[in-house]
Formats: sequence, structure tokens, C-alpha cells
Amino acid sequence: MNQRIEWSPVKSPSPFKQDGTHRIPNRVYSDVELHARELEAFFYKAHWCYVALECEIPNQGDYKATMIGERPVIVVRDRDGSVNVLENRCAHKGAKFCQKEFGNAKVFVCPYHQWGYRLNGDLAGVPMKNGVAGQGGMGADFKMEDHGLNRLKVRVHNGIVFASFDDDIEPFESFVSAELMPFFNRTFDGRALTLLGYNRQRIRGNWKLMQENIKDPYHPGLLHVFFVTFGLWRADQKSELRIDPRGRHAQMISTRNSGGENKEVTAGVTSFKESMILEDPRLMDVVQEPWWGGPTAVMQTIFPSVIVQQQVNSLSTRQIIPRGPNEFDFVWTHFGFADDTPEMTERRLKQANLFGPAGLVSLDDGEVIEYCQQAATAYPDGECVVELGGKDGGVASPHMVTETLIRGMYRYYRETLGL
Ligand SMILES: [Fe+2]
Repeated sequence: MNQRIEWSPVKSPSPFKQDGTHRIPNRVYSDVELHARELEAFFYKAHWCYVALECEIPNQGDYKATMIGERPVIVVRDRDGSVNVLENRCAHKGAKFCQKEFGNAKVFVCPYHQWGYRLNGDLAGVPMKNGVAGQGGMGADFKMEDHGLNRLKVRVHNGIVFASFDDDIEPFESFVSAELMPFFNRTFDGRALTLLGYNRQRIRGNWKLMQENIKDPYHPGLLHVFFVTFGLWRADQKSELRIDPRGRHAQMISTRNSGGENKEVTAGVTSFKESMILEDPRLMDVVQEPWWGGPTAVMQTIFPSVIVQQQVNSLSTRQIIPRGPNEFDFVWTHFGFADDTPEMTERRLKQANLFGPAGLVSLDDGEVIEYCQQAATAYPDGECVVELGGKDGGVASPHMVTETLIRGMYRYYRETLGL
């Protein structure tokens, strides 16, 4: 049985000074009490959270230790081939029993008092349970079946694994929404995935700033020298923004070389370096793939835990793991498809150099998020202005000159937290 901790109604007044979500109070990025409520409401209840790709644990007993919010969990392939997600918290004293990030196990044994668990979380062994030389031990009413690991609800969807602490969570399809499922399934259409590698970074910013970053189609052509100069993402490209009816998830969809030469989007933009060329053009050896069906980039935020990225031939999940209100870990898992040619695998890996903590593009995002967090912390009564494209929250858009997706997320945030 899942153990749930209910959060009590907030005691402090709402940090929002007015209706709507075109102004975001700095406190949502730094307030400890709000952060605790976010974990409960978004990561531990009512949301499917990303934990793994199935290809990370191909064999029986393979496991991956990861996090949902600030709680450690283990994703493990059971003997029957199914995937279990178990809380990495011993049923005895609560110790995090598995410290290795990846491995293969027949059982999990807590180092503290050696309680042992099967791959489905059932308690299999308790040392000294029956006492020693007739003395001590557990009482007659101690039942092994009452002390298994907390086992989460799991959804494996075409190779990507989500889990939830919430027994009453809605079906995965309705969680992602009918609006977003087609583009979600464009990447995860049932083809076997292959693991290409990882990047990890710790960003000293609030976790929501990363969600905002990928709900913000306005910045890539301004902040990122690489995007605007080499035409991977520009405001004059054919593009579309999708959002689920509740405003929490979104997709930014764009097609390279579809707009092109509108000088309005580069005039005065200091990051546009017209004369810059690549020393090694293989980095931009983009090959159109049949499954794209047009768009060359689809950036998806599945609230709250993950971003699914396709930027030309590079594919990644980016897991968001909060660590208090002021920082989060960001784990990039780069992947391809099992039927990729060796050339395509090499191309995906080369283009992955755009991303990760030192990526030619993503380096910038980590840095500006930290700059924003510094202001949020130093000016707790300040606000951010989110008015590009109007003040409406969370409506789809046929262009990218808008912050509607961010307003949509905060509409959902205010509704869910009662702020
Ligand atoms: Fe960016």
C-alpha cells in the first residue's frame, strides 16, 4: 500500500498580487513552504513522473536508482520481464538501501539490519526475526507481508517508464492529453529504443525555471548563438505551440528552413553571428527522418518531471529532480532507435553536443536560469513579467512569439495549489 502524506492548507497568503499569470512572483522560486507543497501536489500525487527508458534495464534484475521529486526510487526489471518501481526506503528504519545508480540484483538488502526484499518489493528476510537462542526477535504478530517496500504504480509506454505514488492516478493517456499524445507517440511509437549515454548537471535554480525554459519558444533565437546563427530555431520558422487543456504540459513544434530570412528576427540580435561558420560541418549533418513528418524539432514538457527533446537527429529525455527550492539536478538520457544505422547513431551522438551541461546550446540555459534564481532570491517581493503574446493563460498558438505556455503552467499551478 502506498503511504501518503497529505499537505495541509497553506497558512501564508498567496504570493500572487493579482489575478492571472502574466506576473509571476519571485517567491514561487524560493519559498520553502511553497516548495514542500509543490512536491506533494505535483511529484507525489496526481502526476505520472518519468523514471527511465526501458532500454536502461534490459535484463532480469537490472535496476536503476533515480528520484521522483526528492524521494529516491528504484526501477527494476523483474524475473517475469515486467518493470517495478520501488521506493528506495527500507521498511524498517527508512534507510536508503541502494546506493548504486545502476546494477543487477536478485534481491535488495538494506545495509543497516540486512532486511532483504524481492524484486517486486516483498520482504523476503529479516535477520534474528525468531530471536537468538530463544530470546528476543519479532513478536508473533509481525507479518512479513505487512512490511514490503512501497511499490509505485507504473506505466511503461512504448519504451518510456513513468511511475506514481498515487494509487488513484488517472490513466497515462488522459494525463498526457489527447492534444499532446500524437506528438508524444511520434517519438515513442513502439520502436525499440537504444541508450546512447548520459549528461548530468546541477543547476542552481528552481526546478520550474527549467519547465519554463522549454515552454518559452521566444528565447532560443535570442539567447542561443548556435540556434539563430545556424537556423535551427528562429522566430520566423513555421511553428506551433500545443498545450493540454489544464495547462501543465506543452509541445513546441518547429520546422527548420521553413521561414528563413526575415531580418526582423536577427536585426540587432547580438547573438546572431552572420559570419560564423563551423570548422567541422559534420556537427550539422542533419538527415531528415521519415518519422518526423515535417517538423524538425519537437520540445515537450511533461509536467512536472521531464522534457522530451527531438532537435533534428538528437533525441533525449531530460529529467528534472528538485533539491529544495533553489536547485535541481538535470539528467539527460540520450537515445536512438534499435534499427538505426551506425552512421545515424554517430550523427545522433554528434548532435548531442548541442545539449547537456556544456552543450553548444544548453550551456546558455543553465547559466541564465541561475541568473534568474539569483534575482528571485535577492528580491523576494519582485515579479517577473510574462506578457508576450497577451495575458491569456495556456492557449495553443500557431506561432512562437508568445509566452502563453508559461502562463498556462502557472494557471494550473495556482488552481492546483489554491493560490
Ligand atoms: Fe534554451
